[in-house]
Amino acid sequence: MVTKRIYLSSPTIHGEEEKYVKEAFDTNWVAPLGPNVDNFEKEAAKYVGVKYATALSAGTAALHLAIKLAGVKQGDIVFCSDLTFSATVNPVSYEKGVQVFIDSERETWNMDPRCLEKAFEKYPNVKAVIAVNLYGTPAKLDEIRAICDKYKVVLIEDAAESFGATYKGRQTGTFGQYNAISFHGDKLYTRYYWAKSA
Ligand SMILES: Cc1ncc(COP(=O)(O)O)c(C=O)c1O
Repeated sequence: MVTKRIYLSSPTIHGEEEKYVKEAFDTNWVAPLGPNVDNFEKEAAKYVGVKYATALSAGTAALHLAIKLAGVKQGDIVFCSDLTFSATVNPVSYEKGVQVFIDSERETWNMDPRCLEKAFEKYPNVKAVIAVNLYGTPAKLDEIRAICDKYKVVLIEDAAESFGATYKGRQTGTFGQYNAISFHGDKLYTRYYWAKSA
């Protein structure tokens, strides 16, 4: 019988984090945003090498915003990775779009560029593509981006799990027109940080 509950990602706040949490309370910048969030956005953008980053409540919210910015409306087709966490594809439903799942390839377990190309031949009206980097492993992002550019379709990169991972020397979270990173406590980066500071 299991008696001890094991939490997936219970927070631990100490050292540097504790200092910044206290500072946020001391300076009354708990809400709405404030200097900590401003710096967080700047540092995240600088780290991956993009011009701008916007902090939202979660990676799911970032993907939802990307879907809205891509103009996905009721009935629009969005090509999605077929092996992923549900948050990659849920925002398509929030806007009443239609997911068409693209098969994965062996090497990365992510979206197969050959299947993506075939799907574009089959479906002429596609609004966006959402490609995930599952378990921190980048998809074949240059090939995927080239296909999206060829068909003039927006690429959304779901880099929720791959912050810090590079593809051909370039940080993930930079290949799409819109890119989402997650700092949920169960992500590789956040866990690593906790483990390091514990
Ligand atoms: C692949 C993938 N996409 C999106 C998300 C959503 O991120 P969040 O939990 O920050 O909403 C997650 C993680 O939860 C994820 O693993």
